[in-house]
Amino acid sequence: MKNEEIAAAFLAYYQTFPHEDMNDLKLAHTRRVVENARAIMASPEFPPALRAAGETAAWLHDLGRFRQFMQYHTFSDRVSVNHALLSCGEVLRLGWLDDREASERNLILRAIEFHNLRDLPPSLSPDEAALSHLVRDADKLDIFTVLDEAIATNYLPSHPEVYWGLPFTAAPSPKIVAAIETGESIDYADIASFADFVFIQLAWCNGGLHFRESYRLAQARGEVAQRRDYLVSILPQERATIEHCCQVAEAALARGAGNGR
Ligand SMILES: [Fe+2]
Repeated sequence: MKNEEIAAAFLAYYQTFPHEDMNDLKLAHTRRVVENARAIMASPEFPPALRAAGETAAWLHDLGRFRQFMQYHTFSDRVSVNHALLSCGEVLRLGWLDDREASERNLILRAIEFHNLRDLPPSLSPDEAALSHLVRDADKLDIFTVLDEAIATNYLPSHPEVYWGLPFTAAPSPKIVAAIETGESIDYADIASFADFVFIQLAWCNGGLHFRESYRLAQARGEVAQRRDYLVSILPQERATIEHCCQVAEAALARGAGNGR
């Protein structure tokens, strides 16, 4: 299938599931990830020959979310299944990529499979790395947007499920503050508060994105400032730590250089 057909097939597939607000969120998420991917792919740093595959991978990266929610009533992979692998399985079962070259199909499947890993596996080919980074960056950029909306609508205090039921006004963990400073990826097992959950996203600003265009988009969208203002409003006693981490993140965004996790 070509990408226009994939977009139509995606919508038709979504409509085969019982209507759920959570499914609507994933449909909207996927559309925005495709938009983010297009923006990244329009920049000269992205290999033009991979643009069609990149758009396909963006459309399909979360395809398994609908089946995951229908079967397990959660988007938590920890208590259900790895949704990236489920997405690959659905893509293969539906046969949407059967008419693509095997090399392109494998690239797309790998980018889907790797999109939710903490770090990419080493020794990927340049094309595998480019496509995997594309989906990961486009996905992270939309996760920023989702939290921006939740902050703007004051949705969070009454919806702890968004941040894994963590305590809303507990202090950030020193381990996570240290990871932001060093630009290392965060072990999700160390996340113990809503502040930590937000700090994961600050850590993305310091080495967790790959493409220069991704850093530029996060900076242009004011992602750090929105998190700083909100965290300070709910944790005024942690102002110094929050300000410090946000300065590190803002400086990293301004440098626009990633280490490409
Ligand atoms: Fe995902």
